[in-house]
Amino acid sequence: MEVVICSDEQQVGRVAAERVIKRLAGITTPVLGLATGSSPIALYAELARRAENGDVDLSHGLGFALDEYVGIAPTHELSYRDTIRRTVVEPLRMSPARVRVPDGNAADLKAAADEYDRAIREAGGVDVQILGIGGNGHIGFNEPTSSFGSRTRVKTLTQRTRDDNSRFFATGEKVPTHCVTQGLGTIMEARHVVMVATGAHKADAVAAMIEGPVAAMCPASILQFHPSVLVVIDEAAASKLTCADYFRHIEDHRAEVGA
Ligand code: F6R
Repeated sequence: MEVVICSDEQQVGRVAAERVIKRLAGITTPVLGLATGSSPIALYAELARRAENGDVDLSHGLGFALDEYVGIAPTHELSYRDTIRRTVVEPLRMSPARVRVPDGNAADLKAAADEYDRAIREAGGVDVQILGIGGNGHIGFNEPTSSFGSRTRVKTLTQRTRDDNSRFFATGEKVPTHCVTQGLGTIMEARHVVMVATGAHKADAVAAMIEGPVAAMCPASILQFHPSVLVVIDEAAASKLTCADYFRHIEDHRAEVGA
């Protein structure tokens, strides 16, 4: 796992965007895996700036969001469908018809989740999966104890995740109890993973993911088995890493080994 420690959120966004662009170079129909939430906002803003400059063209690209709440209207501004439209599709100049979000309102949620998983495969798989990490170590909405082999499916959100995400919802509005999320097995099939995390509230989860044992209680730790993961974090999110100096040393000397 490659770990880059940055001074602040803006640098996290720039470093992560640079790598996403590099990974997509030369691919005619790039397929992006898309996280929502606060973490990738600076990354998407930088990608948007680079798309405007012509450094990257995603107009022919495909996108697959990681997850969606169950039972939330697709037009609700906190639905992940609408969030992805506002923060990704429009600023990155992607084609709305080519960016999918799991259907949290399907009459048959299981069938819709299975079809979503198949659609990712039929698109040739995800080239670059952008991830955030929950304070409890979730990726997508794969909460602790999720199966490492799981595919896109309905999950029950933990109270911690509902509490964490209540900051987005208006007072009195309830955070949905369920979601549809790509599984850990689905995420692991992406060719490259770029994860971003900022803030001290992510420090425990980041340390468990990078340095802890691979364990169902930290779903993100499965990424230790993935051959191409870049983790871009700020100093606060890196504060519980025992190997932080080692990661800084690698970055400082990268050019010397031609990496
Ligand atoms: C969102 C998602 C989640 C978030 C995680 C962190 O699509 O899949 O795993 O990445 O909950 O959320 P933020 O970035 O809001 O702290």
